[in-house]
Amino acid sequence: MGKFVIEGRKSLKGRVKVSGAKNSALKLMAASILGSGRTRLENIPLIEDVYTMADVLRTLGAHVMFDQDCGAVDIDPGGIQSFEAPYQLVRKMRASILVAGPLLSRFGKVKVAIPGGCNIGSRQIDLHLKGFEFMGTKSFMEHGYVHARINNGQGRLKGALIDLDFPSRGATENIMMAACLAKGKTVISNAAREPEIRDLANFLVALGADIQGAGGDRITIRGVEGLKGASYRVMPDSIEAGTFMAAGAICGQEVVIEGAVAKNLDIFLLKLKEIGIHVEILDPETVKVKRGLGPFKPVQISTLPYPGFPTDLQPFMAVVLATVPGVSLITENVFENRFMYVDELNRMGANIKIDGHHAMIRGVQKLSGAPVTACDLRAGAALVLAGLAAEGVTEVMDIFHIQRGYESFEAKLAAIGADIKKVH
Ligand code: UD1
Repeated sequence: MGKFVIEGRKSLKGRVKVSGAKNSALKLMAASILGSGRTRLENIPLIEDVYTMADVLRTLGAHVMFDQDCGAVDIDPGGIQSFEAPYQLVRKMRASILVAGPLLSRFGKVKVAIPGGCNIGSRQIDLHLKGFEFMGTKSFMEHGYVHARINNGQGRLKGALIDLDFPSRGATENIMMAACLAKGKTVISNAAREPEIRDLANFLVALGADIQGAGGDRITIRGVEGLKGASYRVMPDSIEAGTFMAAGAICGQEVVIEGAVAKNLDIFLLKLKEIGIHVEILDPETVKVKRGLGPFKPVQISTLPYPGFPTDLQPFMAVVLATVPGVSLITENVFENRFMYVDELNRMGANIKIDGHHAMIRGVQKLSGAPVTACDLRAGAALVLAGLAAEGVTEVMDIFHIQRGYESFEAKLAAIGADIKKVH
Protein backbone atom coordinates (compact mmCIF):
# COMPACT_ATOMS: atom_id res chain seq x y z
CA MET A 1 0.00 0.00 0.00
CA GLY A 2 1.45 3.35 -1.02
CA LYS A 3 1.50 6.68 0.76
CA PHE A 4 1.96 10.31 -0.23
CA VAL A 5 4.77 12.23 1.42
CA ILE A 6 4.23 15.99 1.31
CA GLU A 7 6.55 18.78 2.36
CA GLY A 8 4.12 21.62 3.01
CA ARG A 9 4.11 25.38 2.60
CA LYS A 10 5.08 25.56 -1.05
CA SER A 11 3.25 28.15 -3.16
CA LEU A 12 1.26 26.71 -6.01
CA LYS A 13 1.45 28.40 -9.39
CA GLY A 14 0.52 27.27 -12.87
CA ARG A 15 -2.19 25.59 -14.92
CA VAL A 16 -3.83 22.28 -14.16
CA LYS A 17 -6.28 20.39 -16.36
CA VAL A 18 -9.04 18.31 -14.84
CA SER A 19 -9.90 14.86 -16.21
CA GLY A 20 -13.27 13.49 -17.28
CA ALA A 21 -15.86 13.22 -14.52
CA LYS A 22 -15.68 9.98 -12.56
CA ASN A 23 -19.32 10.25 -11.54
CA SER A 24 -20.40 10.59 -15.13
CA ALA A 25 -17.98 8.15 -16.78
CA LEU A 26 -19.07 5.26 -14.52
CA LYS A 27 -22.74 5.77 -15.43
CA LEU A 28 -22.04 6.13 -19.16
CA MET A 29 -20.10 2.87 -19.06
CA ALA A 30 -23.06 1.16 -17.36
CA ALA A 31 -25.47 2.75 -19.86
CA SER A 32 -23.49 1.33 -22.79
CA ILE A 33 -25.16 -2.02 -21.94
CA LEU A 34 -28.37 -0.59 -23.40
CA GLY A 35 -26.97 -0.19 -26.90
CA SER A 36 -26.96 -2.98 -29.45
CA GLY A 37 -23.69 -1.67 -30.90
CA ARG A 38 -20.25 -0.53 -29.83
CA THR A 39 -19.77 2.60 -27.70
CA ARG A 40 -16.65 4.74 -27.49
CA LEU A 41 -16.27 7.07 -24.51
CA GLU A 42 -13.65 9.78 -24.75
CA ASN A 43 -12.12 11.89 -21.98
CA ILE A 44 -12.44 8.88 -19.71
CA PRO A 45 -10.51 9.30 -16.43
CA LEU A 46 -7.94 6.51 -16.05
CA ILE A 47 -8.71 5.76 -12.39
CA GLU A 48 -9.36 2.66 -10.30
CA ASP A 49 -13.17 3.07 -10.21
CA VAL A 50 -13.30 3.16 -14.00
CA TYR A 51 -11.22 -0.05 -14.15
CA THR A 52 -13.61 -1.64 -11.63
CA MET A 53 -16.59 -0.69 -13.79
CA ALA A 54 -14.76 -2.22 -16.76
CA ASP A 55 -14.41 -5.44 -14.71
CA VAL A 56 -18.12 -5.40 -13.91
CA LEU A 57 -18.95 -5.09 -17.62
CA ARG A 58 -16.46 -7.86 -18.50
CA THR A 59 -18.02 -10.11 -15.83
CA LEU A 60 -21.35 -9.64 -17.62
CA GLY A 61 -19.73 -10.66 -20.91
CA ALA A 62 -19.08 -7.28 -22.55
CA HIS A 63 -15.83 -6.61 -24.39
CA VAL A 64 -14.05 -3.57 -22.91
CA MET A 65 -10.83 -2.09 -24.30
CA PHE A 66 -8.99 0.99 -23.11
CA ASP A 67 -7.18 3.27 -25.50
CA GLN A 68 -4.79 4.72 -22.89
CA ASP A 69 -3.09 7.12 -25.30
CA CYS A 70 -6.36 8.77 -26.28
CA GLY A 71 -7.94 8.49 -22.81
CA ALA A 72 -10.85 6.53 -24.29
CA VAL A 73 -12.64 3.25 -23.72
CA ASP A 74 -14.46 1.08 -26.27
CA ILE A 75 -17.29 -1.09 -25.02
CA ASP A 76 -19.03 -3.78 -27.01
CA PRO A 77 -21.97 -5.15 -25.02
CA GLY A 78 -22.70 -7.79 -27.70
CA GLY A 79 -21.47 -10.74 -25.62
CA ILE A 80 -23.49 -10.07 -22.45
CA GLN A 81 -24.85 -13.33 -21.12
CA SER A 82 -24.63 -12.86 -17.38
CA PHE A 83 -26.89 -10.56 -15.37
CA GLU A 84 -25.05 -10.53 -12.07
CA ALA A 85 -23.04 -7.73 -10.41
CA PRO A 86 -21.01 -9.80 -7.94
CA TYR A 87 -20.24 -8.85 -4.34
CA GLN A 88 -16.46 -8.69 -4.78
CA LEU A 89 -16.90 -5.84 -7.29
CA VAL A 90 -19.87 -4.08 -5.64
CA ARG A 91 -18.01 -4.00 -2.30
CA LYS A 92 -15.05 -2.40 -4.06
CA MET A 93 -17.22 0.18 -5.78
CA ARG A 94 -20.82 0.85 -4.95
CA ALA A 95 -21.55 2.43 -8.33
CA SER A 96 -21.40 -1.13 -9.77
CA ILE A 97 -25.12 -1.33 -8.94
CA LEU A 98 -25.74 1.13 -11.78
CA VAL A 99 -25.73 -1.81 -14.19
CA ALA A 100 -29.05 -2.92 -12.68
CA GLY A 101 -31.26 -0.44 -14.60
CA PRO A 102 -29.71 -1.15 -18.01
CA LEU A 103 -29.72 -4.94 -17.48
CA LEU A 104 -33.37 -4.95 -16.39
CA SER A 105 -34.35 -2.74 -19.28
CA ARG A 106 -32.55 -4.76 -21.94
CA PHE A 107 -32.69 -8.32 -20.59
CA GLY A 108 -35.51 -8.26 -18.04
CA LYS A 109 -33.47 -9.64 -15.14
CA VAL A 110 -30.65 -8.77 -12.80
CA LYS A 111 -28.95 -10.11 -9.68
CA VAL A 112 -26.97 -7.48 -7.85
CA ALA A 113 -25.07 -7.62 -4.56
CA ILE A 114 -26.53 -5.34 -1.87
CA PRO A 115 -23.84 -2.70 -1.29
CA GLY A 116 -24.32 -2.17 2.46
CA GLY A 117 -22.74 0.79 4.22
CA CYS A 118 -19.47 2.46 3.38
CA ASN A 119 -17.01 4.84 4.98
CA ILE A 120 -19.22 7.89 4.51
CA GLY A 121 -22.44 6.35 5.79
CA SER A 122 -25.30 3.98 5.23
CA ARG A 123 -26.09 3.78 1.53
CA GLN A 124 -29.45 2.26 0.83
CA ILE A 125 -30.80 1.22 -2.57
CA ASP A 126 -34.47 1.17 -1.57
CA LEU A 127 -35.32 4.06 -3.93
CA HIS A 128 -33.73 2.27 -6.90
CA LEU A 129 -35.74 -0.87 -6.16
CA LYS A 130 -38.98 0.99 -5.54
CA GLY A 131 -38.58 2.63 -8.95
CA PHE A 132 -37.99 -0.74 -10.65
CA GLU A 133 -41.03 -2.19 -8.89
CA PHE A 134 -43.25 0.65 -10.14
CA MET A 135 -42.04 -0.32 -13.60
CA GLY A 136 -43.24 -3.89 -13.21
CA THR A 137 -40.37 -5.87 -11.70
CA LYS A 138 -40.66 -8.30 -8.83
CA SER A 139 -37.68 -8.44 -6.54
CA PHE A 140 -36.50 -10.39 -3.52
CA MET A 141 -33.37 -10.49 -1.42
CA GLU A 142 -31.41 -13.65 -0.72
CA HIS A 143 -27.86 -14.37 0.45
CA GLY A 144 -26.83 -10.71 0.21
CA TYR A 145 -28.16 -10.21 -3.29
CA VAL A 146 -31.22 -8.52 -4.78
CA HIS A 147 -32.84 -10.52 -7.56
CA ALA A 148 -35.15 -8.50 -9.77
CA ARG A 149 -36.99 -9.57 -12.89
CA ILE A 150 -39.96 -8.74 -15.09
CA ASN A 151 -42.45 -11.60 -15.59
CA ASN A 152 -39.83 -14.31 -15.16
CA GLY A 153 -37.44 -12.42 -17.38
CA GLN A 154 -39.87 -12.05 -20.29
CA GLY A 155 -41.21 -8.85 -21.85
CA ARG A 156 -40.45 -5.20 -21.21
CA LEU A 157 -40.54 -2.89 -18.24
CA LYS A 158 -43.52 -0.57 -18.33
CA GLY A 159 -43.42 3.20 -17.98
CA ALA A 160 -44.51 4.62 -14.63
CA LEU A 161 -44.81 7.79 -12.56
CA ILE A 162 -42.06 7.66 -9.96
CA ASP A 163 -41.87 10.26 -7.21
CA LEU A 164 -38.57 9.93 -5.37
CA ASP A 165 -38.70 10.51 -1.59
CA PHE A 166 -35.21 12.03 -1.87
CA PRO A 167 -33.45 13.28 -5.03
CA SER A 168 -30.96 10.40 -5.02
CA ARG A 169 -28.49 10.57 -7.89
CA GLY A 170 -28.03 6.84 -8.14
CA ALA A 171 -31.78 6.13 -8.09
CA THR A 172 -32.47 8.84 -10.70
CA GLU A 173 -29.76 7.40 -12.98
CA ASN A 174 -30.75 3.77 -12.55
CA ILE A 175 -34.44 4.50 -13.17
CA MET A 176 -33.71 6.82 -16.11
CA MET A 177 -31.62 4.08 -17.76
CA ALA A 178 -34.25 1.41 -17.00
CA ALA A 179 -36.96 3.58 -18.57
CA CYS A 180 -35.18 3.96 -21.92
CA LEU A 181 -36.39 0.62 -23.31
CA ALA A 182 -39.58 0.41 -21.24
CA LYS A 183 -43.02 0.37 -22.83
CA GLY A 184 -44.57 3.83 -22.59
CA LYS A 185 -43.72 6.95 -20.66
CA THR A 186 -41.86 7.22 -17.36
CA VAL A 187 -41.80 10.41 -15.32
CA ILE A 188 -39.32 10.78 -12.47
CA SER A 189 -40.28 13.61 -10.14
CA ASN A 190 -38.09 15.00 -7.37
CA ALA A 191 -35.24 13.76 -9.57
CA ALA A 192 -31.60 14.58 -8.81
CA ARG A 193 -30.45 17.62 -10.80
CA GLU A 194 -26.66 17.23 -10.88
CA PRO A 195 -24.94 18.13 -14.17
CA GLU A 196 -23.81 14.48 -14.42
CA ILE A 197 -27.49 13.47 -14.75
CA ARG A 198 -27.71 15.73 -17.80
CA ASP A 199 -24.51 14.20 -19.18
CA LEU A 200 -25.99 10.72 -18.81
CA ALA A 201 -29.24 11.83 -20.47
CA ASN A 202 -27.30 13.39 -23.38
CA PHE A 203 -25.41 10.13 -23.86
CA LEU A 204 -28.63 8.10 -23.74
CA VAL A 205 -30.15 10.44 -26.34
CA ALA A 206 -27.04 9.84 -28.49
CA LEU A 207 -27.84 6.11 -28.21
CA GLY A 208 -31.35 6.89 -29.50
CA ALA A 209 -33.32 7.40 -26.26
CA ASP A 210 -36.12 9.93 -25.87
CA ILE A 211 -35.52 11.94 -22.68
CA GLN A 212 -36.67 15.39 -21.67
CA GLY A 213 -36.08 17.51 -18.59
CA ALA A 214 -32.81 15.97 -17.31
CA GLY A 215 -31.03 18.51 -15.14
CA GLY A 216 -34.41 19.61 -13.75
CA ASP A 217 -36.43 17.91 -11.03
CA ARG A 218 -38.87 16.24 -13.44
CA ILE A 219 -37.51 13.94 -16.12
CA THR A 220 -39.70 12.39 -18.81
CA ILE A 221 -38.50 9.30 -20.65
CA ARG A 222 -40.48 7.79 -23.52
CA GLY A 223 -39.41 4.19 -24.04
CA VAL A 224 -38.10 3.22 -27.48
CA GLU A 225 -37.80 -0.21 -29.13
CA GLY A 226 -34.01 -0.33 -29.27
CA LEU A 227 -30.82 1.67 -28.80
CA LYS A 228 -27.55 1.64 -30.70
CA GLY A 229 -23.95 2.40 -29.72
CA ALA A 230 -22.45 5.91 -29.89
CA SER A 231 -19.31 7.96 -29.50
CA TYR A 232 -19.45 10.43 -26.64
CA ARG A 233 -17.12 12.72 -24.71
CA VAL A 234 -17.39 12.60 -20.90
CA MET A 235 -17.92 16.00 -19.21
CA PRO A 236 -15.08 17.41 -17.05
CA ASP A 237 -14.98 16.48 -13.36
CA SER A 238 -16.40 19.26 -11.15
CA ILE A 239 -15.21 17.63 -7.94
CA GLU A 240 -11.66 17.38 -9.22
CA ALA A 241 -11.95 21.03 -10.36
CA GLY A 242 -13.20 21.95 -6.88
CA THR A 243 -10.30 20.05 -5.33
CA PHE A 244 -7.74 22.12 -7.26
CA MET A 245 -9.68 25.31 -6.49
CA ALA A 246 -9.41 24.43 -2.80
CA ALA A 247 -5.68 23.79 -3.28
CA GLY A 248 -5.44 27.27 -4.84
CA ALA A 249 -7.40 28.74 -1.94
CA ILE A 250 -5.06 27.11 0.58
CA CYS A 251 -1.67 27.95 -0.90
CA GLY A 252 -2.22 29.28 -4.39
CA GLN A 253 -0.05 32.05 -5.66
CA GLU A 254 -2.09 31.65 -8.82
CA VAL A 255 -3.68 28.39 -9.93
CA VAL A 256 -5.54 28.25 -13.24
CA ILE A 257 -7.89 25.29 -13.49
CA GLU A 258 -8.86 24.18 -16.99
CA GLY A 259 -12.02 22.13 -17.29
CA ALA A 260 -13.60 23.90 -14.32
CA VAL A 261 -17.16 24.49 -15.48
CA ALA A 262 -17.94 27.53 -13.37
CA LYS A 263 -21.72 27.26 -13.62
CA ASN A 264 -21.61 23.72 -12.14
CA LEU A 265 -19.63 25.02 -9.17
CA ASP A 266 -21.58 28.21 -8.51
CA ILE A 267 -22.09 27.84 -4.82
CA PHE A 268 -18.57 26.57 -4.13
CA LEU A 269 -17.11 29.62 -5.92
CA LEU A 270 -19.45 31.95 -4.04
CA LYS A 271 -18.31 30.50 -0.71
CA LEU A 272 -14.63 30.84 -1.63
CA LYS A 273 -15.26 34.49 -2.49
CA GLU A 274 -17.19 35.00 0.75
CA ILE A 275 -14.15 33.72 2.66
CA GLY A 276 -11.97 36.28 0.87
CA ILE A 277 -10.24 34.05 -1.67
CA HIS A 278 -9.54 35.58 -5.10
CA VAL A 279 -11.56 33.81 -7.76
CA GLU A 280 -11.70 34.83 -11.40
CA ILE A 281 -13.72 33.12 -14.11
CA LEU A 282 -11.51 33.41 -17.20
CA ASP A 283 -13.98 31.65 -19.49
CA PRO A 284 -16.91 29.24 -18.91
CA GLU A 285 -14.48 26.33 -18.37
CA THR A 286 -11.43 28.04 -16.83
CA VAL A 287 -11.16 29.48 -13.34
CA LYS A 288 -8.22 31.20 -11.66
CA VAL A 289 -7.84 30.95 -7.89
CA LYS A 290 -5.32 32.53 -5.57
CA ARG A 291 -5.23 32.81 -1.84
CA GLY A 292 -4.21 36.46 -1.61
CA LEU A 293 -3.52 38.21 1.68
CA GLY A 294 -7.04 38.36 3.04
CA PRO A 295 -8.73 39.54 5.13
CA PHE A 296 -10.40 36.13 5.47
CA LYS A 297 -13.66 35.53 7.23
CA PRO A 298 -15.47 32.43 8.49
CA VAL A 299 -18.58 31.13 6.70
CA GLN A 300 -21.49 28.75 7.21
CA ILE A 301 -22.08 25.89 4.81
CA SER A 302 -24.84 23.28 4.49
CA THR A 303 -24.45 20.42 2.07
CA LEU A 304 -27.49 19.63 -0.06
CA PRO A 305 -28.26 17.88 -3.35
CA TYR A 306 -27.44 20.03 -6.42
CA PRO A 307 -27.75 23.00 -6.81
CA GLY A 308 -26.87 23.06 -3.10
CA PHE A 309 -23.34 22.85 -1.75
CA PRO A 310 -21.93 19.44 -2.87
CA THR A 311 -21.22 16.97 -0.08
CA ASP A 312 -18.20 15.75 -2.07
CA LEU A 313 -16.53 19.17 -1.68
CA GLN A 314 -17.31 19.47 2.03
CA PRO A 315 -13.96 18.01 3.30
CA PHE A 316 -12.00 20.43 1.07
CA MET A 317 -13.92 23.40 2.43
CA ALA A 318 -13.15 22.20 5.97
CA VAL A 319 -9.42 22.28 5.14
CA VAL A 320 -9.72 25.78 3.66
CA LEU A 321 -11.61 26.96 6.75
CA ALA A 322 -9.21 25.29 9.20
CA THR A 323 -6.88 28.29 8.97
CA VAL A 324 -9.48 31.04 8.50
CA PRO A 325 -9.75 33.15 11.67
CA GLY A 326 -13.06 32.94 13.54
CA VAL A 327 -15.65 30.19 13.80
CA SER A 328 -17.09 28.51 10.71
CA LEU A 329 -19.90 25.99 10.67
CA ILE A 330 -20.42 23.10 8.27
CA THR A 331 -23.67 21.11 8.32
CA GLU A 332 -23.64 17.79 6.47
CA ASN A 333 -27.12 16.84 5.28
CA VAL A 334 -26.45 14.08 2.73
CA PHE A 335 -24.25 11.40 4.40
CA GLU A 336 -24.12 10.74 8.13
CA ASN A 337 -20.44 9.71 8.42
CA ARG A 338 -18.84 12.37 6.33
CA PHE A 339 -16.74 13.90 9.13
CA MET A 340 -14.52 10.83 9.60
CA TYR A 341 -11.45 12.81 8.46
CA VAL A 342 -11.84 15.42 11.19
CA ASP A 343 -9.85 13.49 13.82
CA GLU A 344 -6.99 13.21 11.35
CA LEU A 345 -7.16 16.92 10.56
CA ASN A 346 -7.16 17.73 14.28
CA ARG A 347 -3.98 15.67 14.62
CA MET A 348 -2.47 18.19 12.21
CA GLY A 349 -3.39 21.03 14.55
CA ALA A 350 -6.87 21.94 13.31
CA ASN A 351 -9.53 22.80 15.88
CA ILE A 352 -12.75 21.16 14.73
CA LYS A 353 -15.53 19.87 16.97
CA ILE A 354 -18.26 17.60 15.71
CA ASP A 355 -21.77 17.66 17.09
CA GLY A 356 -24.04 15.26 15.19
CA HIS A 357 -24.07 16.44 11.61
CA HIS A 358 -22.45 19.80 12.41
CA ALA A 359 -18.76 20.65 12.44
CA MET A 360 -17.62 23.77 14.27
CA ILE A 361 -14.29 24.95 12.91
CA ARG A 362 -12.20 27.43 14.87
CA GLY A 363 -9.51 28.73 12.55
CA VAL A 364 -5.94 28.17 13.73
CA GLN A 365 -2.84 30.05 12.60
CA LYS A 366 -1.20 27.08 11.01
CA LEU A 367 -1.43 23.33 10.53
CA SER A 368 1.53 21.08 11.26
CA GLY A 369 2.55 18.05 9.22
CA ALA A 370 1.79 14.60 10.66
CA PRO A 371 1.23 11.01 9.55
CA VAL A 372 -2.48 10.64 8.74
CA THR A 373 -4.71 8.01 7.17
CA ALA A 374 -7.19 8.49 4.32
CA CYS A 375 -10.56 7.02 5.25
CA ASP A 376 -12.34 7.61 1.96
CA LEU A 377 -11.76 9.15 -1.45
CA ARG A 378 -12.54 12.83 -0.86
CA ALA A 379 -11.38 12.81 2.76
CA GLY A 380 -8.06 11.38 1.60
CA ALA A 381 -7.60 14.08 -1.03
CA ALA A 382 -8.53 16.71 1.56
CA LEU A 383 -5.78 15.44 3.86
CA VAL A 384 -3.32 15.86 1.00
CA LEU A 385 -4.44 19.49 0.67
CA ALA A 386 -3.99 19.93 4.43
CA GLY A 387 -0.46 18.58 3.98
CA LEU A 388 0.19 21.26 1.33
CA ALA A 389 -0.76 23.94 3.87
CA ALA A 390 1.01 22.40 6.87
CA GLU A 391 4.44 23.19 8.23
CA GLY A 392 6.79 20.20 7.87
CA VAL A 393 6.14 16.75 6.47
CA THR A 394 2.76 15.06 6.14
CA GLU A 395 2.41 11.40 5.22
CA VAL A 396 -0.98 10.32 3.92
CA MET A 397 -1.50 6.55 4.18
CA ASP A 398 -4.07 4.32 2.41
CA ILE A 399 -3.91 6.34 -0.79
CA PHE A 400 -5.77 3.62 -2.68
CA HIS A 401 -8.89 5.56 -1.67
CA ILE A 402 -7.56 8.62 -3.51
CA GLN A 403 -6.52 6.61 -6.57
CA ARG A 404 -10.10 5.40 -6.95
CA GLY A 405 -11.10 8.87 -8.11
CA TYR A 406 -8.15 11.05 -9.11
CA GLU A 407 -6.05 10.57 -12.21
CA SER A 408 -2.35 11.39 -11.59
CA PHE A 409 -3.23 13.44 -8.51
CA GLU A 410 0.32 13.82 -7.21
CA ALA A 411 1.76 14.53 -10.68
CA LYS A 412 -0.81 17.28 -11.30
CA LEU A 413 -0.07 18.87 -7.90
CA ALA A 414 3.69 18.56 -8.40
CA ALA A 415 3.39 20.27 -11.80
CA ILE A 416 2.01 23.40 -10.10
CA GLY A 417 4.68 23.48 -7.42
CA ALA A 418 3.67 21.05 -4.66
CA ASP A 419 6.38 18.95 -3.05
CA ILE A 420 4.59 15.59 -3.08
CA LYS A 421 5.90 12.09 -3.74
CA LYS A 422 4.27 8.72 -3.92
CA VAL A 423 6.19 6.16 -1.87
CA HIS A 424 5.48 2.43 -2.09
C1 UD1 B 1 -23.44 9.95 -5.73
C2 UD1 B 1 -21.95 10.17 -5.94
C3 UD1 B 1 -21.27 10.58 -4.64
C4 UD1 B 1 -21.98 11.77 -4.03
C5 UD1 B 1 -23.47 11.49 -3.88
C6 UD1 B 1 -24.25 12.70 -3.39
C7 UD1 B 1 -21.43 8.59 -7.68
C8 UD1 B 1 -20.69 7.35 -8.09
N1 UD1 B 1 -21.36 8.92 -6.41
O1 UD1 B 1 -23.60 8.84 -4.86
O2 UD1 B 1 -19.92 10.92 -4.94
O3 UD1 B 1 -21.43 12.04 -2.76
O4 UD1 B 1 -24.03 11.12 -5.17
O5 UD1 B 1 -24.08 13.78 -4.25
O6 UD1 B 1 -22.01 9.27 -8.51
N2 UD1 B 1 -30.34 7.04 -0.42
C9 UD1 B 1 -31.34 6.27 0.13
N3 UD1 B 1 -31.93 5.31 -0.67
C10 UD1 B 1 -31.54 5.09 -1.96
C11 UD1 B 1 -30.51 5.89 -2.51
C12 UD1 B 1 -29.93 6.86 -1.71
O7 UD1 B 1 -31.71 6.42 1.29
O8 UD1 B 1 -32.11 4.20 -2.62
C13 UD1 B 1 -29.68 8.05 0.42
C14 UD1 B 1 -28.21 7.70 0.69
O9 UD1 B 1 -28.07 6.82 1.77
C15 UD1 B 1 -27.59 9.05 0.93
C16 UD1 B 1 -28.43 9.98 0.03
O10 UD1 B 1 -29.61 9.28 -0.29
O11 UD1 B 1 -27.77 9.44 2.27
C17 UD1 B 1 -27.70 10.40 -1.25
O12 UD1 B 1 -27.45 9.28 -2.03
P1 UD1 B 1 -27.34 9.34 -3.63
O13 UD1 B 1 -27.73 10.69 -4.12
O14 UD1 B 1 -28.07 8.16 -4.16
O15 UD1 B 1 -25.78 9.17 -3.82
P2 UD1 B 1 -25.03 8.13 -4.75
O16 UD1 B 1 -25.68 8.12 -6.09
O17 UD1 B 1 -24.82 6.87 -4.03
